[in-house]
Amino acid sequence: MLHSIPKNNPNKHPTKSSHRAKQKELIMIHFFTCTIFIFWMLLLSACTNYQPSSADRMQVGVAYYNQSDTFLSQMIECLKDQFDNLANEGLEITVMVREAAGSQRTQDDQVKELIDAGCNVLCVNLVDRADPSEIIDLAREHNIPIIFFNREPVAEDMMQWDKLYYVGADANQSGVMQGELAAGAIQTCRQIDRNQDGKIQYVVLEGEAGHQDSIIRTESAVNTLKQKGVSLEKLSCGIANWNRAQAQNRMMQMISQHQNRIELVLANNDDMALGAMDAYKKLNVTESALPVFFGIDGTDVGLKAVAEGRLSATVYNDKEGQSAAIAKLAAALITGQGLNKIEFENQKYIYLPYKKVTGSNVYVFYKEKEL
Ligand code: GAL
Ligand code: CA
Repeated sequence: MLHSIPKNNPNKHPTKSSHRAKQKELIMIHFFTCTIFIFWMLLLSACTNYQPSSADRMQVGVAYYNQSDTFLSQMIECLKDQFDNLANEGLEITVMVREAAGSQRTQDDQVKELIDAGCNVLCVNLVDRADPSEIIDLAREHNIPIIFFNREPVAEDMMQWDKLYYVGADANQSGVMQGELAAGAIQTCRQIDRNQDGKIQYVVLEGEAGHQDSIIRTESAVNTLKQKGVSLEKLSCGIANWNRAQAQNRMMQMISQHQNRIELVLANNDDMALGAMDAYKKLNVTESALPVFFGIDGTDVGLKAVAEGRLSATVYNDKEGQSAAIAKLAAALITGQGLNKIEFENQKYIYLPYKKVTGSNVYVFYKEKEL
């Protein structure tokens, strides 16, 4: 205490002036006590309320390849939710999202614009996974880390700079799971081999040529089926760029070529499996003459088709998990906190596991997504 009131006042009958002096002293004591109290309160609140420093102000630039891609547009929503969660935890965050309509040139310009707007971390879903150099150069010039996602740059490009990261999933795992799901269905339901020749006549609908998820998913699904003892006869294969309408067209051609011989459709994603079903619907093919369809992604429409029994099964591409990993990594890169707690493969890669989805567990995913 700065001031204390004497316990025994020797002057029992104070004069007017000594009374005024006493009043003054009391006012001063009151004033100092209040000042000290306010000072301590301010100090306490500064210690307990974490105020983000300017380095903790996250300005996130998100650039993605095409908004017509069903999985990607759902993933971007998840990513925004994840950044919202971080904002609720006290970080100051602004998120700017740009969509490149399938042009790498447009995306390069958008990344430049995001950097000029002050973004201090970039999340990039490349248009051309083999052409990230311009974006990497721009980011390096401004010392802004990049988290690539979903469309994996080739390994040499990832080595160009130490502030490049990738978040995605292992394509091989999704193919193996699709193959296991198809093998399981074929081995339990003998009618899938409709002509009962002991072989499964199949077609494949592939995503973009050169995408890590196209070639690998197809190869590993087919190899897994073979390893599980399923005899296969490949009838046809068509590229449909992840797209439902293109898959419908490709499937129409395949049906006109092979009529009702097709017993199995392996699609690299749900949208293409749904496009293949659209083709059969358009041709009014009776249910007993339909092949079985398998997808990958577990998009809203894909899950619905599994729940309704139209799509035999799918493989869940964990967009929530991937988005959470991106947001966590972005925050760690900006705040400098928690980076050592993140588990990387080869120092810069994070892969989230796929999950099998069938009619018997599809409601778990529905519940998780509150559909
Ligand atoms: C894949 C996904 C596809 C498509 C593609 C785009 O992982 O399964 O549906 O979105 O990414 O890069
Ligand atoms: Ca057959």
